[in-house]
Amino acid sequence: MTNQTTLIIGANSEIAKALAIKIIADNSSNLIVISRDISFYQQSTFDSATVIPIKSYEELAISNTLASIKKLPTLLISQVFICHGILHNERCQPEKRLEDFSSESFSEIITANTLTPMLWLKHLTPMLSGKNPCKIVVFTARVGSISDNKLGGWYSYRASKAAMNMLVKSAAIELARRAKNIKLISFHPGTTDSPLSKPFQANVPEGKLFQPSFVAEQLFTITANALIDGDASYVDWQGKAISW
Ligand SMILES: NC(=O)c1ccc[n+]([C@@H]2O[C@H](COP(=O)([O-])OP(=O)(O)OC[C@H]3O[C@@H](n4cnc5c(N)ncnc54)[C@H](OP(=O)(O)O)[C@@H]3O)[C@@H](O)[C@H]2O)c1
Repeated sequence: MTNQTTLIIGANSEIAKALAIKIIADNSSNLIVISRDISFYQQSTFDSATVIPIKSYEELAISNTLASIKKLPTLLISQVFICHGILHNERCQPEKRLEDFSSESFSEIITANTLTPMLWLKHLTPMLSGKNPCKIVVFTARVGSISDNKLGGWYSYRASKAAMNMLVKSAAIELARRAKNIKLISFHPGTTDSPLSKPFQANVPEGKLFQPSFVAEQLFTITANALIDGDASYVDWQGKAISW
């Protein structure tokens, strides 16, 4: 075990859990997880992990949480996974037509999928800039690609992920000047078995619904191979570039 540390944010996501399980199984790095619901991490498997509950994803809660991590004994954070994503819940459904669009649902989705990850990026940057190479993965989605949009619909989710891609791209340009050790990656996991995809799994072609453990394996290969090149990458689960 090194003093390299992996930080997983929004750690109650199914894909996040698979990432955490693999970190522990491989004993490849220290692990810090942050979530509103830490119940999964109460099992003894995670005894060696630092498990941090957060009440909400308001900016003050985010900055206070990161300040508490800074006080931990010297840990070099070399990978960060920001996993937030809402596609549907009791109040929001992906829109099929313009008439389905609602300002409340749009605000909720863009807050969770775009504003919240951006606040983490804002507060992580001063903490992570330095000499230790660090890869920050923000989960977006292929439907956030403007050039790849052939089907339309899903207005709020698409827009939230496209906006996140733009924020990642812009942040990478700034970090190339002031935090050359940080690489930003916008990641599309593919359709993965989780609460997020549950209502939409019926039409997924055979073999195309991934298990979170498979996506976790793929993603660790992607982060291991990613070059710190001063540019953002937008890639799928195969590591293949997606056009912005
Ligand atoms: N599953 C797929 O097929 C698929 C496909 C393409 C892209 N993605 C993207 O991959 C990522 C992980 O997805 P998943 O399938 O693992 O999702 P999931 O199991 O449904 O997890 C939901 C995630 O969203 C966070 N979240 C929920 N409500 C939130 C809110 N109001 N504010 C902020 N965060 C909130 C949760 O954080 P807590 O830990 O605090 O609960 C958790 O990180 C998401 O960004 C998703 O858009 C998934």
